[in-house]
Amino acid sequence: MSTDHQLAKIFPSKSNITLDQYKELHKQSIEDPDTFWSKAAKEYLDWFRPFDKVSDGSFEHGDVRWFQGGKLNVSYNALDRQIGKNPNKRSNDIALVWEGDEPDDIRKLTYEEVLRKVCQIANALLRMGVRKGDIVTVYMPMIPELAMTMLACTRIGAVHSVVFAGFSAEALAQRISAAQSQVLITADVGCRGGKQIPLKDIVNDSLTKMDCDSIVKHVLVWERFYTGDAESTPPYEMSARDVRMDPLVAVQRPYCPPEHMDAEDNLFILYTSGSTGKPKGLLHTTGGYALYAKMTTQISFDLHPGDLFACVADCGWITGHTYVVYGPLLNGSTTFMFESTPVYPDEGRYWDMVQRHKITQFYTAPTAIRLLMRYGDEAPKKYDLSSLKVLGTVGEPINPEAWRWYYEVVGNSNCTVVDTYWQTETGGHVITNLPGVTPMKPGSCTLPFYGVNAAVLDPQSGKELTEPDEHGHYEGVMALKQPWPGMARTCLGDHERYLNVYFRPYPGYYFTGDTVSRDEDGFHFIIGRMDDVINVSGHRIGTAEVESALVAHPAVAQAAVVGQPHDIKGQAICAFVMLTVGYEETPELLKELRGSVRTEIGAFCTPDLIVVTPSLPMTRSGKIMRRILRKIVCGETDSLGDTSTLADPSIVDVLITKVGELT
Ligand code: WT7
Repeated sequence: MSTDHQLAKIFPSKSNITLDQYKELHKQSIEDPDTFWSKAAKEYLDWFRPFDKVSDGSFEHGDVRWFQGGKLNVSYNALDRQIGKNPNKRSNDIALVWEGDEPDDIRKLTYEEVLRKVCQIANALLRMGVRKGDIVTVYMPMIPELAMTMLACTRIGAVHSVVFAGFSAEALAQRISAAQSQVLITADVGCRGGKQIPLKDIVNDSLTKMDCDSIVKHVLVWERFYTGDAESTPPYEMSARDVRMDPLVAVQRPYCPPEHMDAEDNLFILYTSGSTGKPKGLLHTTGGYALYAKMTTQISFDLHPGDLFACVADCGWITGHTYVVYGPLLNGSTTFMFESTPVYPDEGRYWDMVQRHKITQFYTAPTAIRLLMRYGDEAPKKYDLSSLKVLGTVGEPINPEAWRWYYEVVGNSNCTVVDTYWQTETGGHVITNLPGVTPMKPGSCTLPFYGVNAAVLDPQSGKELTEPDEHGHYEGVMALKQPWPGMARTCLGDHERYLNVYFRPYPGYYFTGDTVSRDEDGFHFIIGRMDDVINVSGHRIGTAEVESALVAHPAVAQAAVVGQPHDIKGQAICAFVMLTVGYEETPELLKELRGSVRTEIGAFCTPDLIVVTPSLPMTRSGKIMRRILRKIVCGETDSLGDTSTLADPSIVDVLITKVGELT
């Protein structure tokens, strides 16, 4: 075990490493990964038992594993390690600063306080019968108790499955059922933009769906405005399986010994969209994920002691897991947690927070930047943003215009903008610039992180591109050539799907699903998804999910969903629907169809455009040609390509006219 609480020093960033040194270190990490990762794992993590082997397994067999034989606990590394090293100092350091929906609703928790509360929650979970390996579904608003609930699960070796609280009862039920999760943790309400969201009611509704009623044994309910009075009447109707979380936690012992987890024991699952209708439960394991979360947070954001690190993503997504909770706390840093929206009470909210809390790293998505840019420069100019050092972006390609605004207006041309490319599956950043090390190019996520071997493949042959195009660029499939510790290990209950989606399309490579252009300097520019996935405001949505929500309505016989370019959201959802005989297109029906998507998935997936059509462009074998629909909604009707294989080519003109009228 290392003896100080300082951030690890072996991989210096800013001011003390040059681009050439990065390249040299990156080369070593690729050529001799075991030496690199072994050194990193020892320096960055405390192990109860040292690992016997650094890495093993292959993409081909889908049995990649890291740090075999090693024992550790993530909550121990995130909390006890920080305090234990230097009790006089670290214990009083702030671990978490939370700002609620209202700007004056602020909580600051020290490492000691978080550890005690996490232990109490862990003991409460044990009390409720939760054991190592059990999957606990968490459906909570962005309050400190959410982060502490996640950490409490890791303390006892329970596997959390956090479901974004914007998902509907139906989507929640699907995730509870898929995970067969017996314990569900929620809150009575969540607050966003001055409104309350009745989470407990949504939970009740979800328990009437699928087989959830018989699966879920306990619903543990945090109270958003708990007064500390255990005798009070709870602000929601209690059923037999409901347990009030606040009073239960309050009576627990504030210490709970950390479970000694194997490096490859399950840490959490997180559902994400793919090209089929069923969400995938991606599984991350303990040692590799913790190491990767910690290292990428420290290095990509050039984290230093005393920094206040703010990632404004929701914990319902991987960004919240890695860069709100695990990464910052494993580094002993102060993490900022935000419950509200960028425009509540007004469009200066983010910048007001930066000024008041002296935020040093700020991490958000291009969609938020574009939204705020629309309001002009006044809002950011009104505030003192001089504490900022690094500005991060993630979730979708950032257009150069938004990049420049972020860099110049928010960062005063004085901060590094890190464009971090990664996925739920990768656990942490895989391609990103490093502050002070990698030159920035607007719209480029630049160069791979240590240990990441990035490859650009020819989509047809599956071979790495060796000949540049006429611009000197290599454009093709974004793939990764060798395992890294943060990678997801399987899809829960469906390892075949994991192999089929990620490792079989291009044997020998991890397939990201994205296309990329690599320029003459080796810098990467992500172009977008090549599968049937749309990226709406940085949310990854499978077209098949939206289609199945639409056909769930009796009026819809067939549906085809494609993405349409959108100024703020990046892409908007555009749905083509064929009605069942007897139904007619009316404004009410269109409203109902939107409502159908909201109830089946969640409001963030609501289609922007619904086009009712007598038929869809189908091949003679009955396959919907989404490519043509995509071209039509993008206004690229002069490059539709070959339409001769369509069963009824005349539908194309009908749709072009109809879409023209609607947009
Ligand atoms: C997909 C992954 C991982 C955090 C949030 C999204 C797109 C992500 C970038 C970026 C261009 C990006 C890709 C990727 N994406 N970051 N910096 N530049 N595109 O996680 O929901 O798993 O989505 O988001 O298309 O495949 P996710």
